[in-house]
Amino acid sequence: MNEIVLEAASLEKSFGGRGLLPWGKGKRSLQAVRGVDLQVRKGETLGIVGESGCGKSTLARMLVGLSEPTGGRVALSGRDVAEMRRNARSELRRKVQFVFQDPLSSLNPRKTVRQILEAPLDNLLRMPRDRRRERVAELMQLVNLRPEFVDRHPHEFSGGQSQRIGIARALAAEPKVMVLDEPVSALDVSVQAQILNLLGDLKQRLGLTYVFISHDLAVVEHLCDTVAVMYLGNVVEHAPAEEIFRSPRHPYTHALLQSVPTLGRRSDPDALSEGELPNPAAPPPGCAFAPRCPRARDDCRQARPPLERMADGHLAACYYPLAREAGKDASQA
Ligand SMILES: Nc1ncnc2c1ncn2[C@@H]1O[C@H](COP(=O)(O)OP(=O)(O)O)[C@@H](O)[C@H]1O
Ligand code: SF4
Ligand SMILES: [Mg+2]
Repeated sequence: MNEIVLEAASLEKSFGGRGLLPWGKGKRSLQAVRGVDLQVRKGETLGIVGESGCGKSTLARMLVGLSEPTGGRVALSGRDVAEMRRNARSELRRKVQFVFQDPLSSLNPRKTVRQILEAPLDNLLRMPRDRRRERVAELMQLVNLRPEFVDRHPHEFSGGQSQRIGIARALAAEPKVMVLDEPVSALDVSVQAQILNLLGDLKQRLGLTYVFISHDLAVVEHLCDTVAVMYLGNVVEHAPAEEIFRSPRHPYTHALLQSVPTLGRRSDPDALSEGELPNPAAPPPGCAFAPRCPRARDDCRQARPPLERMADGHLAACYYPLAREAGKDASQA
């Protein structure tokens, strides 16, 4: 097995709640990430899925050192990311890069594509000017953008083209790891496929490791080797992609799969009723999924179930997991 390049251990992030007033009132803190353990191996694509608001972006930002954890740690090839962020920021940026969901708003509207792509070459790699020109041309070619686009500004591009620029900018640093936060969610479906193909191709050619975040399971199924499912700030299931899709063990993963139409599976829109993700500022006691879980029993509401090994490489956090290959008929068991 390949070495671990990126690792999160007991990772937590709370927002607010610091300014407690002396008389005990104040904003309650919101725990967006509640103790996540993850390992990403070299050359792997890890998919992170879950409903909007479950903490995916907060986790992603900590993984790349864009935001500091309030608990636990992230390690990049064994080195503490928070420490690198303080003492070796450019080295951190050279190793791990982030691709944003909204391509256009992540690009400076006043800069040309050349300026956008040259910035990391200059700042992070200290590349001399003439080499930078060459490298910008290479980057444009890597993401299939026409060379003459290099002197245009972001607003002159479509969403798909903007995302290609965002990807080229991330690649400019020659990172080992790319964390992509819903990189195709803002794009038309036809463009999504092109960008996904491009990402798959780049990964092969450049030997990259991806953390690929998406609320769209169909996207994850085709691109990812392993998948982590998040629910209210926790990873509730983590397994090889084919295993998760064929034999989910956590009732939430099962419901998520049932709710999405994917190749060969019919969707059941009632499998996950919308708007029921609990308030992260006041999580339910015990298992956070209990209020929506068809298998919940009283003891599920007592203590949070730990992430446990169900089979080789297959982890799930549930006291009453689905049987292997239980598939369609889970609520009966
Ligand atoms: N800067 C912030 N301040 C306060 N709350 C935040 C902040 N960023 C995210 N949150 C909250 O944290 C939770 C997780 O958000 P996020 O990580 O964006 O979820 P996702 O990316 O899965 O949609 C949400 O309840 C969100 O409102
Ligand atoms: S621990 Fe209980 S409530 Fe939580 S997912 Fe498992 S069966 Fe459902
Ligand atoms: Mg998000």
